[in-house]
Amino acid sequence: MKQILYIIGVSGSGKTTIGRLLSQKTGLPFFDADDFHPTQNIDKMKAGIPLTDNDRKDWLAAIHQTALAQAATNGAIIACSALKENYRRQLSQGLQDVKWFFLNGSYEVIRNRMEQRPDHYMPPALLQSQFDTLEIPANALELNIAGSPDEICTAILNSIYQPSSFGIIGLGVMGKSLARNFASKGIRLSLFNRFVKGKEEHIAQQFITAHPELATAKGFEDLPAFVQSLTQPSCILIMVNAGTATDEVMNGLLPLLSTGSVIIDGGNAYFKDTERRIQLAKQNNINWIGAGISGGEEGALNGPSIMPGGETEAYSRVQPFLEMIAAKDENGRPCCNYTGSGGSGHFVKMIHNGIEYAGMQLIAEVYYILRKGLQKDPGEIAAIFAEWNSGTLSSYLLSITIDILQAKENDQWLLDTIDAKAESKGTGSLATQTAAELGSPAGMMTSALFARFLSAQTGLRQQAAAIHPAYSSPLSVSVEDIRQSYELARIINHHQGFEVIKAAAQEYNWEINLSALAATWTNGCIIRSALMNRLMEILQETDTMLFNEEIISLVNANQPGLRNTVAAALTGGLAVPALSEALNYILALTEADPPMNLIQAQRDYFGAHTYRLKSDPEGSPIHTDWKKFRSHN
Ligand code: 6PG
Repeated sequence: MKQILYIIGVSGSGKTTIGRLLSQKTGLPFFDADDFHPTQNIDKMKAGIPLTDNDRKDWLAAIHQTALAQAATNGAIIACSALKENYRRQLSQGLQDVKWFFLNGSYEVIRNRMEQRPDHYMPPALLQSQFDTLEIPANALELNIAGSPDEICTAILNSIYQPSSFGIIGLGVMGKSLARNFASKGIRLSLFNRFVKGKEEHIAQQFITAHPELATAKGFEDLPAFVQSLTQPSCILIMVNAGTATDEVMNGLLPLLSTGSVIIDGGNAYFKDTERRIQLAKQNNINWIGAGISGGEEGALNGPSIMPGGETEAYSRVQPFLEMIAAKDENGRPCCNYTGSGGSGHFVKMIHNGIEYAGMQLIAEVYYILRKGLQKDPGEIAAIFAEWNSGTLSSYLLSITIDILQAKENDQWLLDTIDAKAESKGTGSLATQTAAELGSPAGMMTSALFARFLSAQTGLRQQAAAIHPAYSSPLSVSVEDIRQSYELARIINHHQGFEVIKAAAQEYNWEINLSALAATWTNGCIIRSALMNRLMEILQETDTMLFNEEIISLVNANQPGLRNTVAAALTGGLAVPALSEALNYILALTEADPPMNLIQAQRDYFGAHTYRLKSDPEGSPIHTDWKKFRSHN
């Protein structure tokens, strides 16, 4: 049963104002007893005749019915004079959780107020009769109406709410699932969602009502009231869109928080924005933690993977909360490990998404070869993937793909009904740009990102397909070769991702523990896999996974399959950018004598950019007058 808050007092004491404001702050529905009077009562009051007990009987019964109905659903704030003790008894009958708030003020002050609301049916002349009828309640919180409406509401909120130990702002899919996860661990929560007329109304209250585990949670649509409901200094998780929405919430919060409060940004923020926000928060004596959170709706509910970065002291305050809701690794430890200072948490989450993009693209390419090249149907491909998924290739992404491939409706594969135009929200693009800024070759995520972009250029593709007829020939490649290509390409994808992180750690002085990061990614997140479990151990011994014995033998064992698959796919007319990139990368990486000396010579030729000698790579830069060797026209 939900709480019913009665705002009581004589006419003119401000019940409607306070009730409405309280409703705005909490999102709880508001009912005004004035609206329940039958016309004969209103006519009587207008005529200056005080109501009797008999006049009030049906009116009180109607309000009581509303209170009962509301207690069974959302709870309510009800403004009602409830002047006599027996009225209040009637109004609270059958309700388990009723609170009374008595707005008290002198006759003079209230009369003065009533004279300033000429359109109300209650004439000031009836005020004395109200005072005469009033029986001062013994069990109500008395509030002096001299206080401002905001002060009165704060006093009401403070009296009904035990302070919450954790706050969440933003009740989208992720915010809601995380809230339920926290609540299931017994955390007392305050939940805030903005009010947008016609679009986002009373989201927090409705959400609380819909989930029994949120019985002790409080909902808000007013930021100051939300902050006041929290223990001070507060811990608040914000789950809003990255970018301006995060800045808006931050700007609203900073002036309200007490020194030492910690804000955790759990969205997919760009790490440089996180660095800026950490500084701004610090100037206001507030701590900002940038935490990457992965796992989608299900992960958030049952245990996500969490990548928190920021100042250690601030992190230690929120660590118990984050560890409590995180997924657990195979050793039972939380998949939540501090990544380092500054924006490192959001940085590693961004690279997680880059690896995710390439991981998805690889599965799509392998599916494409099996479907178009080997003419297998989705059901057969699901069976092949299921076999792979039962061993060392197992991963979350592969397992969801098996489900997708098996989906059939009305004898049609569901997959075949989907427009093949891949969308993206930006993290893959930021990961690619950042890898480029750091000079770290992350071709796998880049190829996956550009494959999405190309797929989205539908008009261009249709035009091109009409002009340049596709050339295709049957594919001669075995399923075993394809399996090998997938296994090796996944290794390259992870290697490239960890290399970008190493480059960033060096650039930004972050002490990122790669093994701990891999442990964080063994459960709860989108890129969890059997390989990640191995990497957790491998990265304890070396920070370059390709140098590990086990990985070296996998690279060697699977290279023939990758070569055969890429060659067959390309000659057969199937674009496989990520698989090709994996092969190109391993070939270029292991080439002792790449042709980049020619690039250096060309740069020097047209721009005098100079070059260095193979025999003296650290020596002075050299410029050559290449034209003097020219012998052709
Ligand atoms: C996760 C996901 C999550 C989100 C992706 C989707 O780790 O839980 O990565 O962050 O689903 O950002 O990204 P795109 O829409 O760009 O594919």
